[in-house]
Amino acid sequence: MTNHADSPGAAAAPVLDIRDFTIELVTGKMVSPIVDGASFQVHEGRTLGIVGESGCGKSMLSLGIMKLIPTPPAKIAEGQVLLDGSDLVPLSDKQMEQVRGNRISMIFQEPMTSLNPVYTVGYQIGEALRAHSSLSSAAARQKAIELLRKVGIPNPEKRVDEYPHSLSGGMRQRVMIAIALACEPRVLIADEPTTALDVTIQAQILDLMRSLKTESGTAIMLISHDLGVIAEMADDVIVMYAGRIIEQAPVHSLFAAPSHPYTQGLLASIPAVEGEQHRLQPVPGTVPPPHDRPKGCAFHPRCSFSDEKCRAERPPLEEKLAGHRVACWHAGPGASA
Ligand SMILES: Nc1ncnc2c1ncn2[C@@H]1O[C@H](COP(=O)(O)OP(=O)(O)OP(=O)(O)O)[C@@H](O)[C@H]1O
Ligand code: SF4
Ligand SMILES: [Mg+2]
Repeated sequence: MTNHADSPGAAAAPVLDIRDFTIELVTGKMVSPIVDGASFQVHEGRTLGIVGESGCGKSMLSLGIMKLIPTPPAKIAEGQVLLDGSDLVPLSDKQMEQVRGNRISMIFQEPMTSLNPVYTVGYQIGEALRAHSSLSSAAARQKAIELLRKVGIPNPEKRVDEYPHSLSGGMRQRVMIAIALACEPRVLIADEPTTALDVTIQAQILDLMRSLKTESGTAIMLISHDLGVIAEMADDVIVMYAGRIIEQAPVHSLFAAPSHPYTQGLLASIPAVEGEQHRLQPVPGTVPPPHDRPKGCAFHPRCSFSDEKCRAERPPLEEKLAGHRVACWHAGPGASA
């Protein structure tokens, strides 16, 4: 594992400050929280990793921050998304268009669906630039070439005039990153950015994100089901379960002393064979669906430590060690799932 700096002091203002963020799914008369009271911060030049099984709310959380959740059936019910101190939640769609791709950008798992097949990559990067600045089309083209070079695309003068279908998956993902970086965003949200790519390309894309963080100070939110990627890339980690943050810690603390039984299960599930890809399946059982979350601790049906209190009362997310927060009545480094 790489060495990471310790958490920034209290003096460093976060770039992104999420407070009590709640997203609800409204189906008929039923209202179910799919992101439930999330509070966390992302700092300049740091990467926050987010992990958790399929369906725990990682994508909804990131789409919610960008205000891109499907409405209906989902809606932001509560909370604040402070970007450099100002709240995005009350902004109109038009105001959000000025924020997205400018101060905050997102890259997704499947680059082909995010690129428009009928325009050249140069045009698409140029459009991203021109949406937020008054560059001429010639200047935008030149900047697009520089960005393609920066994301490691060979022969960018030629590639700039090509269409997405003539590029490989790895190249397309680089183009998406170039678009995301066009306006030098303060925050980059990457939702499983390398899952569809082979291991070598994955390593190159991760390198690119790492240098972005150190050279441009971009605050990164990286969602991945691959704990190896999180261990390597993140400075801080959030573990989600059934829409809630259940553990939050600096990366070294989380991997050295996971406290929540679910996190312990996740870490125990890391595949022995390096590079093997699989969905997280930490402990027997499945994540309960949003409309059927158990009372008390949502993890209790799968937890070997659950008792009456766990079944009746939901544990709050509390700081157990410096910077290490856990939502479990019986959390401790000694416990194991
Ligand atoms: N468009 C939608 N309409 C209704 N429910 C949805 C929609 N998208 C997601 N959900 C539900 O919201 C919950 C959270 O889903 P989300 O996609 O955020 O999970 P995830 O953690 O990103 O999972 P994965 O690891 O599979 O990407 C799930 O229960 C899911 O079924
Ligand atoms: S609160 Fe109880 S059920 Fe929930 S994780 Fe902790 S021990 Fe298990
Ligand atoms: Mg997802």
